[in-house]
Amino acid sequence: MQNHLHICEIDRIRAVTIGVTDIAQSLSFYTQVWGLEVVQRKNDTIWLRAGGLDHHVLVIEKSTTPGLISITWGVKDQATLMGFYERLVNAGVFTEEPPRKLASPGGGWGFAFHDPEGRVHKVVAEREDHQAHQHDTTLPQRIAHVVVNTKDMKLISDFFQNTIGFKLSDATHKMKFFRCNSNHHSLAIADFDSISLNHIAFEMPTWNDLMFAVGRTKLAGHPLQWGVGRHGPGDNVFSYFLDPDGFVVEYTAEIQQITDPAHIPGEPEQWVRSPERMDQWGHANLPTDVIKKAMSGQMGLSA
Ligand SMILES: [Fe+2]
Repeated sequence: MQNHLHICEIDRIRAVTIGVTDIAQSLSFYTQVWGLEVVQRKNDTIWLRAGGLDHHVLVIEKSTTPGLISITWGVKDQATLMGFYERLVNAGVFTEEPPRKLASPGGGWGFAFHDPEGRVHKVVAEREDHQAHQHDTTLPQRIAHVVVNTKDMKLISDFFQNTIGFKLSDATHKMKFFRCNSNHHSLAIADFDSISLNHIAFEMPTWNDLMFAVGRTKLAGHPLQWGVGRHGPGDNVFSYFLDPDGFVVEYTAEIQQITDPAHIPGEPEQWVRSPERMDQWGHANLPTDVIKKAMSGQMGLSA
């Protein structure tokens, strides 16, 4: 779900690349349990699609230590890509190479930039997407958002807001939520004094489809770590699990749509809540200690 309001050159999140320690185990989880499908494999790197049209949404790469490798963002076309590259270079942002035709799966045109904490962000245009959705609506459809932890909230939030051009939708004491289209957030930054991945969220078509996905994942032996609940900021339905490396992965649905350009971001005081009630419904269990550690970037703690 998203309307392409013009916020900045980037108009969507497309994919996330993670390093995993056991490629066979991660492949089994993401295909047999999570509901993704292999589109390409090259040695120890695997590209996975979801139910939507994106060529791929998750890339897993063999790595000695698990971690976020890159986030891939989409722009409308090659001209927008070129203009965005020029703007970033003029703003002094570190970029790897000028935009070029990509030989990697999905093709298109792209370049990569680094944020001030060294995360790698790929930007792509005119990628070869799939012609049709998968029929099973209980499969994740696309990346909904990614949340990263920071050691310097002001530096990173200023970068995404002022240099990249994302809009701030909400702020809590611990987090800032940024949008690049009508979705309340495609990126959120969490203050955990760590440069790490907090979680990756996958969009489900409806809350009902989300419940089927949660059931499938639980029955496959992966305990629900937090949820099902409805968040305050973003109003989205959430459910969090751990992948084999201890990455936090989320099924989400029904995120708030912000179409008013004059939207005033929520303030931290608006979202203060009692520790016993961490979602709007009051239905979700409290997050487990394991998932709290995993969200803060302490990996390798999966059950
Ligand atoms: Fe989330």
